[in-house]
Amino acid sequence: MSNLTETIEVVVSAAAGGTNDTRVLRLTRQDGAPLPAYRPGAHVDVYLPNGLVRQYSLCGPNARAPDYRIAVKRSGESRGGSEWLYSRAGDGVRLRIGMPRHAFGVDDTARHHILVAGGIGVTPILSMAYALHASGKSYQFEYFVRSDADIVFRDEILASPLARQTRIHPALAPDAVRERIVDLLAASQAHSHLYVCGPPALMQTTAELARGVLGNANVHMEAFGPSVPVAAGERRFAVMLGTDGKAVEVPPDKSVLACLRDAGHVIESSCEVGVCGTCMMRVIEGEPDHRDSYLTEDERMEGTHFIPCVSRSKSPVLVLASDA
Ligand code: FES
Repeated sequence: MSNLTETIEVVVSAAAGGTNDTRVLRLTRQDGAPLPAYRPGAHVDVYLPNGLVRQYSLCGPNARAPDYRIAVKRSGESRGGSEWLYSRAGDGVRLRIGMPRHAFGVDDTARHHILVAGGIGVTPILSMAYALHASGKSYQFEYFVRSDADIVFRDEILASPLARQTRIHPALAPDAVRERIVDLLAASQAHSHLYVCGPPALMQTTAELARGVLGNANVHMEAFGPSVPVAAGERRFAVMLGTDGKAVEVPPDKSVLACLRDAGHVIESSCEVGVCGTCMMRVIEGEPDHRDSYLTEDERMEGTHFIPCVSRSKSPVLVLASDA
């Protein structure tokens, strides 16, 4: 797991429009030294002056560049994070970021890579496409957007060597998106891996279809929001910290994290939408119902870790430890 505590002071060295509601920021170290290299698909925590912490994928064309590039989409549902960065993080603004985290990235054993992006989900996918291209690997890049106006990095992609492997799909209805995914999976080569990042509906559809064709282990996804929203009709369960801990009730409309805090437990958190891993706990007993976007498929199957800000329990009682 990544170092969760080390941070770097950076300055916004360039801020430019991406689309009508997206802003592209270049981050440079305040002391002028190069920023750490990262693996394509990585993201960083961005610590905002208003106290919020948000996660952004590093989307530059070169993972060894001395600076980082992120793209910020202004969200109608912003709780103050993307809105602040979109409207206030102009040239010269100082920020603090975490070290790159690598919860998503290309599998070097794949013979072919299918990259699927939706909207702003293009950010980790773009850096992966650049890396695959640079290393001469076989890949295709499928980019779904609501409209032509929502194509982030449009000119850059079309002018780059990625253009030949890229298909941009504007304004497709959900059924047409599904058909396109079915078609590309039907044409997929043996030992292909698929990677998807974008809105929950696209990710869910793509991952379900892809797992049926490629197998669980060959499907990789990253979301910057809860991968499965808390639905109406959730069941009540109990959590305990340690086998001799006191049972804490978790009602359908409240997270495990909130319930444990209400019961007096101190648990560190950051994103609180299941993407950063800061709140991760260890499972001692019980069967987690994973709703996060942080654990890998293998880690979920192992069932030894749990993300309490979004995940729930399939068993009536879940026994956890805070020393993950
Ligand atoms: S606080 Fe980020 S995953 Fe829970």
